[in-house]
Amino acid sequence: MTDRRSTYNIKNTTLGFQEEIERLRVQATMSWHKELRTLKWYGLQDGMRILEVGSGPGYITEQLLNSLPESHITSLEIDPTLQNQAKRLLKDIPSERIKFVESSVYHTGLPDHSFDFVVARLIFLHLNNPLEAALELYRVLKPGGRLAIIDIDDGVFGTVNPEIPLLNNILKKIGDYVAQKGGNRYIGRSLPRLLMNSGYLDIDIDSVIQHSDVHGSDGFKRQFDLNRFLPFYKNGVIDLNEFEQLKEASEAINNCSEAYAMMNFIIACGKKPLTINFQNEGVGTRRT
Ligand SMILES: C[S@@+](CC[C@H](N)C(=O)[O-])C[C@H]1O[C@@H](n2cnc3c(N)ncnc32)[C@H](O)[C@@H]1O
Repeated sequence: MTDRRSTYNIKNTTLGFQEEIERLRVQATMSWHKELRTLKWYGLQDGMRILEVGSGPGYITEQLLNSLPESHITSLEIDPTLQNQAKRLLKDIPSERIKFVESSVYHTGLPDHSFDFVVARLIFLHLNNPLEAALELYRVLKPGGRLAIIDIDDGVFGTVNPEIPLLNNILKKIGDYVAQKGGNRYIGRSLPRLLMNSGYLDIDIDSVIQHSDVHGSDGFKRQFDLNRFLPFYKNGVIDLNEFEQLKEASEAINNCSEAYAMMNFIIACGKKPLTINFQNEGVGTRRT
């Protein structure tokens, strides 16, 4: 499968394969109950046919299967190494409940109008063409079905204590660098418009806050693992002063009981109209 057109490739991660998988595992479990709460509020129900895109090593798939025992989940992922990881994790799940699809979110190969709900978690920030992906997901949703995008926005990243005075500068520089490669670390704010421009209705947006005092510090330690920032320093994206501040924060979060961190996930959702304009399915469709 070649149509990745995204900035995420686990082979390029500076943490190394196993550490990155572990980072995703902790990140997937840390605030799942709150993410699920919001997804249910947006209309996710047990028994629905669900598509999860960019499912990676399968930790969110596992959560969906456990949280929605009557649902069937299609787990779509472009990277066969990650999908094999998910298959190993979920090897005991009966085939009536799960289907694995190795494919791109841009061209899923899935039939029209076949899902009640699509979950896209931490994939859209990596996509070079989010509109094309949102339109493809619109195509595979049933009329009245919903797409929920769980993602980040570094403009409302959160905070750490002790403070990193240059945090916003650092995030902006990294965000600009990632944007040059085709990703968008500020995508959260654009999600309502993205959904609107792809024809979705009833658009809403919310956030899920993670706090180390509430959700434990493991996920935050991994978030502030210096190895994640080293390439940006080495490539001159951030300077020595900024890197030193990250180092202090990383040491504090690992060693100091006074330290805490808080982070934000954005969850946006839109509904495919019940009445579809088949001649112009997708862009500009506005009817309920
Ligand atoms: C940061 S990981 C998130 C994994 C999982 N959704 C989670 O929340 O833990 C992003 C995932 O999106 C996948 N991905 C990137 N581009 C994709 C594409 N064009 N089509 C399908 N999956 C893609 C990556 O391979 C990776 O598994």
